Amino acid sequence: MLLAMVGSAVGLGNIWRFPYLVGVHGGAAFIILYVIFVFLLSLPLLLSEFIIGRASRLNAYGAYDKLAPNTIWRYVGFLSVLSPFLIIAYYDVVGGWSLHYFFEACAMSFSQSSEIAGMFSNHISSPFAPLFTMGLFLLMTCVVVLMGVQSGIERFGKIMMPLLFFVILAIAIWVITLPGASEGVKYLFKPDFSKVTGKTLVAAMGQAFFSLSLGCGTMLTYASYAKKSDNIGSSSLQIAFADLLFAILASCAILPGVFAFGVDPGEGPGLIFETLPMMFAAMPLGSLVAIFFFLAVLIAALTSTISMLEVVIAYLVEEHHASRKAAVWGCFSVLFLLGVLCSMSFGPLKDVTILGKTIFDCFDFLAANILMPFGGILACVFVGWKMKKPDVYAELTNEGSLRFMSKIYPLIYFFIRYVAPAGILCVTISNFLL
Ligand code: TRP
Repeated sequence: MLLAMVGSAVGLGNIWRFPYLVGVHGGAAFIILYVIFVFLLSLPLLLSEFIIGRASRLNAYGAYDKLAPNTIWRYVGFLSVLSPFLIIAYYDVVGGWSLHYFFEACAMSFSQSSEIAGMFSNHISSPFAPLFTMGLFLLMTCVVVLMGVQSGIERFGKIMMPLLFFVILAIAIWVITLPGASEGVKYLFKPDFSKVTGKTLVAAMGQAFFSLSLGCGTMLTYASYAKKSDNIGSSSLQIAFADLLFAILASCAILPGVFAFGVDPGEGPGLIFETLPMMFAAMPLGSLVAIFFFLAVLIAALTSTISMLEVVIAYLVEEHHASRKAAVWGCFSVLFLLGVLCSMSFGPLKDVTILGKTIFDCFDFLAANILMPFGGILACVFVGWKMKKPDVYAELTNEGSLRFMSKIYPLIYFFIRYVAPAGILCVTISNFLL
């Protein structure tokens, strides 16, 4: 269960989203804010999802209904279906890029650095090529969910995840030795708080939710499989640390290279696809490393989309009595159309903006900065205000048998009841005021 939760947490969020946000938001200051948010807001939220999941032993929509029967809380479950659905709509665009780059790596395209410049922007702005790999990626997700070979892909993920870790570690070590990389290391570890604005706060908090798959019912569902004897405090810490480790390591592999190769760190969503191929071209055995790297990224992305789609399909099948097949192909059709819009917002539709954001950015913003925080606040409020205090105590301390957890219980309870919901609310609102 712990591995499955780490598998859901570690995905494109760590390898693609975190490094590019660090680049956009000025380096070390963003990382520090992110770590603070993980401990102040994400951990209480993760604990809340653990408590709701394990106390109810049901999926997200059933859980609230069981713990608070016949109340409006059951509609919170709906939120936990909407967020993953919207995330897939743009996550599969990046999944498609990874697939394209995996094909390119297999074709040994990353051996000549002269061919790499401009490759990414050409690819994403061309009208059809990215749609093809995006569709293929979505199709792979749907086929796996349809066949229910989830355990197979999870097992595959367990091999690929450590591989991904070591490939990124190797790249990070190599990249730091490059001339010019020290600028990037400084950027990563020397904070410049003058660059911090309200937007930085919202982005760091959104990432702290996105990366840990919080506020959208996934962790809650996994937690329902936790044993009564598991220590949910230490499990939560382990998940948060593993996720953080991947994110920081990925940044160490990417940002020093950004400086060494003179790429603009504020490049945005394309950052890893711009810089990594250049590194592979310059690296001994780079072509081979590239194949393993993009394969591992692909698997990490797939395990995430599979678990997101599963949430939506389970909802349609259990609550609306759809057949599994109809649900999957129905989702595929809608998601493909949304994916086309998101993908085209880098090319033909790049001038279509809503509140200054492209369609792709809108989906990302809506999911990570609005729906996930909102779902998160509700989960904390549910545990802190709606559930009975002795029940929360029993879950957190395993009926009082965990000594350390019993000792720090008042502190955790305070965080779940006041700090996390108020903190999330403030940061979310600040985005609209600042
Ligand atoms: N945490 C995942 C990542 O870092 C993304 C994600 C967000 C997710 N919400 C999710 C994955 C829900 C599975 C289920 O890439």
